[in-house]
Amino acid sequence: MKEILKKVEQLTAEVEAEVIALRREFHQHPELGFEEENTGRKVAEYLENLGITVETGVGRTGVVGLLAGENPGPVIALRADMDALPVTEKTGVEYASQIPGKMHACGHDGHTSILLGTAKVLSQLRSELKGSVKFIFQPAEEGPGGALPMLEAGVLENPHVDAIFGLHLWPDFKPGQIGLGYGAVMAAPDKFVVKIKGKGGHGSAPHEAIDSITIAAQVINGLQHIASRQIIPTQPVVITIGTITGGYRYNIIADEVEMTGTIRTLNPEVRTEIPQRMEEIIKGITSGFGAEYEFEYIKMYPPLVNHQEMAEYVENIGRQVLGSEGVQLIKDPVMGGEDFAYYLEQIPGAFFRLGSNSGPETSYPLHHPQFNIDEKALVTGMRVLCNLALNYKG
Ligand code: NI
Repeated sequence: MKEILKKVEQLTAEVEAEVIALRREFHQHPELGFEEENTGRKVAEYLENLGITVETGVGRTGVVGLLAGENPGPVIALRADMDALPVTEKTGVEYASQIPGKMHACGHDGHTSILLGTAKVLSQLRSELKGSVKFIFQPAEEGPGGALPMLEAGVLENPHVDAIFGLHLWPDFKPGQIGLGYGAVMAAPDKFVVKIKGKGGHGSAPHEAIDSITIAAQVINGLQHIASRQIIPTQPVVITIGTITGGYRYNIIADEVEMTGTIRTLNPEVRTEIPQRMEEIIKGITSGFGAEYEFEYIKMYPPLVNHQEMAEYVENIGRQVLGSEGVQLIKDPVMGGEDFAYYLEQIPGAFFRLGSNSGPETSYPLHHPQFNIDEKALVTGMRVLCNLALNYKG
């Protein structure tokens, strides 16, 4: 292990400048979900030049590389996402996005570059590699989700993948650190739409109308009772109404109100319970006031649940690679979503956070127009991923 650690340290240091340059190039040319044609082409060319077997167009714009080690052993997958966000960049860096309205504001440019650098280093260490490594470059993590189409295209088969690992750049930690959680670490980010259909009328004659706005107010309060009064308090639930639309004029009673929102849960059973409870409340309140409703609940990604043994493996490797301070255990999950969750529903694996914040310029949150990373994080990511691949015994 010590010898492998040293080799990885040396080889990742050699590739670091190239990976930073790759990241800057991806950063300047961001592509949104399922538009990752140029990014995918660049990824495929890079892998082919390393002698890695490449498959393109997997789950539309995804790219998969397979590197066989010189020794028999398990197959592990490492996954990066490639898509950018519809955000106009405001970092002012020289390598800022050249496309107005599109930006790598979630660090996926970094994830893609880290995985390419990892592929390069591992391709130089085939004699040390037991088994094979599948490099999964996934589209559309930000939505509508590229993991599921890649899974449907069989990304975890031929050869069957035994375990999968992924990372996300994260401004809560410093470069040289990773953040790791056990169990559920990210939420199911579901959506909903509620329409309340009353009866319009003159603002001076409410008794002749059915006011969808006052009913909407009751529904908003009622829905919050699910989180505070109906679900076991030890299980987190977020109910956020993000938009509310309705009405015509100050003196007209609105006939219809539409609200959209998001529900965040960590526990699959709680998640299943929520839509029914929501509908009961919406139905009860609207019928009590003589209104009608439409309700649509849209299931998005599942909660992201790290597998116990795989999280232990990441912790163990992380401490050997980065020292004991290098692994920060996360106590609180975040209620954001991540479609890496779909892979973990199929096979063992773990997802960890890669520290990227070394000061004010790299402290902005993910998705912020000034989001940026300390690029020292890239080599840390490569070192951890290489060692996860080289030491995995199945
Ligand atoms: Ni992201």
